[in-house]
Amino acid sequence: MPKDPAHDLADDTPTLAGFDGPAHVAIIMDGNGRWAQARGRPRLFGHHAGARRVREVVECCPRLGIKYLTIFAFSTENWKRTQVEVAGLMSLFRRYISRELRALNAENVRVRFIGDRVRLDAKLVQLMDEVEEITRCNDRVHLTVALNYGSRDEVARATKRLAQDVADGHLKPADVDEETLPRYLDTRVLPDPDLVIRTSGEARISNFLLWQSAYAEYEFIDTLWPDFSAAELERLCRSFGTRDRRFGAVAK
Ligand code: IPE
Ligand code: IPE
Ligand code: MG
Repeated sequence: MPKDPAHDLADDTPTLAGFDGPAHVAIIMDGNGRWAQARGRPRLFGHHAGARRVREVVECCPRLGIKYLTIFAFSTENWKRTQVEVAGLMSLFRRYISRELRALNAENVRVRFIGDRVRLDAKLVQLMDEVEEITRCNDRVHLTVALNYGSRDEVARATKRLAQDVADGHLKPADVDEETLPRYLDTRVLPDPDLVIRTSGEARISNFLLWQSAYAEYEFIDTLWPDFSAAELERLCRSFGTRDRRFGAVAK
């Protein structure tokens, strides 16, 4: 797909005035199943409704000053669900990615995936590779989709590569510090999230970006993901702007 010529123009989207919002927002998109159940529909109905919310959220990022958006789509633990739900989700991902690619590229969105691709269907992985390649030069919003992602799995895979580098003599154990491991994580090219949002009323992280979110601000909101909106994201970003992030120091 050719690059949209509009990309060469400066990004002149007006951002909200006097607004000190998060540059990187990460979202645990939870509550699709309960949203569907409340309507007497199968869980997959909720997943389809949830997938449709993503575009509006991506599109409002430039106005809110969000440069990086990371969304949790499928965890390493989600394989425990029924075969019907897992297969339905995998086919939804394939359809969603093919359908949204054109719009995302036209919006100058760079798409990346994090997580372990080994267990994913080869056709899905091929599509993920293609999307990353096609959107490689885009830079208005960096959208990262966590698919078969779990933080503990990511850290284990990273540690394996790090240990191999030590074994091969590329790295000395004495040189390993807190800057080293992030270079081996799936997120190595991304800044840490400033704000992590979880929908659906659950106040847990469920194995999402554990290392990266050490100093993130958190918002746990009751809204089920298919009801989430740009207006709600704006409210959370404004609230973020009022927080005093001390990073262990004393308030100014
Ligand atoms: C989040 O919604 C989507 C995925 C985990 C794939 P859920 O499917 O977890 O919805 P609830 O939590 O059961 O309502
Ligand atoms: C977290 O939601 C994973 C995603 C949103 C993809 P879950 O619904 O899987 O988390 P738990 O099981 O409630 O912890
Ligand atoms: Mg859930």
